[in-house]
Amino acid sequence: MRIGILTAGGDCPGINAAIRGVGKSAIVEHKMEVIGFSSGFTGIINKEYQELKEDHLSGILTLGGTILGTSREKPFKQNLGMDKSINKPDMIKKNYHELGLDCLVCIGGNGTQTTANLLAQEGLNIIGIPKTIDNDIEGTDQTFGFDSALGIATEAIDRLHTTANSHKRIMVIELMGHNAGWLSLYAGVAGGGDVILIPEIAFKEEYILRYIEKRVRNKKRYSIVVVAEGIPRPNKKSAAQYISDLISKNTGYESRQTILGYIQRGGTPSAADRILATRFGNFATLLISQGNFGNMIAIRGNKMHAVPLSEVGGKKKLVPIDYPMIKGARKMDTCFGDK
Ligand code: F6P
Repeated sequence: MRIGILTAGGDCPGINAAIRGVGKSAIVEHKMEVIGFSSGFTGIINKEYQELKEDHLSGILTLGGTILGTSREKPFKQNLGMDKSINKPDMIKKNYHELGLDCLVCIGGNGTQTTANLLAQEGLNIIGIPKTIDNDIEGTDQTFGFDSALGIATEAIDRLHTTANSHKRIMVIELMGHNAGWLSLYAGVAGGGDVILIPEIAFKEEYILRYIEKRVRNKKRYSIVVVAEGIPRPNKKSAAQYISDLISKNTGYESRQTILGYIQRGGTPSAADRILATRFGNFATLLISQGNFGNMIAIRGNKMHAVPLSEVGGKKKLVPIDYPMIKGARKMDTCFGDK
């Protein structure tokens, strides 16, 4: 069998571990041929690819980013001004068959799995592997990239405690997550955040201010406020700027803001992400060897599952407001801004 791999959407630690997990098990266990497309779906549209041999897969387990490169190309979305004569899905199908592929493995986030599902519906043999620091993909308990970003964000919050304490300040840190609050919730709890604001929980400014004032009355020297980038906020203001300004202007206490940004997507994957990405890759080639296509690999209760792409495409997994971790944090007086 001959399989193609592409990596699409935002990069994150663990993608190369997943490429390695697919590639090495395909070559060694299943005697398959493997090619890797450049820059996500752009690569298969333009037939830009490389043969992947074992040599290409050595030394990449610990490497951040993706050796194939990525893009946010959405083949089924007609780009404004694009030459209408070029039908990208048709180009993908044409190149898939001309290259003699038996399967295309799409490593990516929500957008990638949505495209993967549409390609499967067009009759291509597709396997999706869920990747994102946002952890917002339906059907899987966790995506690789999330644990690495969680470690990075938690370490950053830990460092904010010492400077906040020294200056008696309110430190606001903005974390990634797109429209979901998983990263901010987990890092906020792991890093001892006093206030955690996520898109899934509607907050009121007065509740945040009242909580900060209460902490000062209780002789707390400083506060840590963790905000997800996707919370509702005034135009042209980042979430961090909005909340930092709100606090300093209404309480008179010194506040400062940190936007952690792309640091959360950089560098080597955590051990947990290396393992999860490898497991995803190995399970993908097992399904391929069985001719079991049209699925996304998932982990549920630490077991590998094949979830139909039709159940994943176009969806997002958001934090349930009654999530146990939220309930637990509330019992320790963590503020979510909603009371
Ligand atoms: O999906 C991963 C992510 O890092 C989100 O958390 C973030 O909002 C987005 O990508 C940033 O997109 P880009 O890399 O295109 O700036």
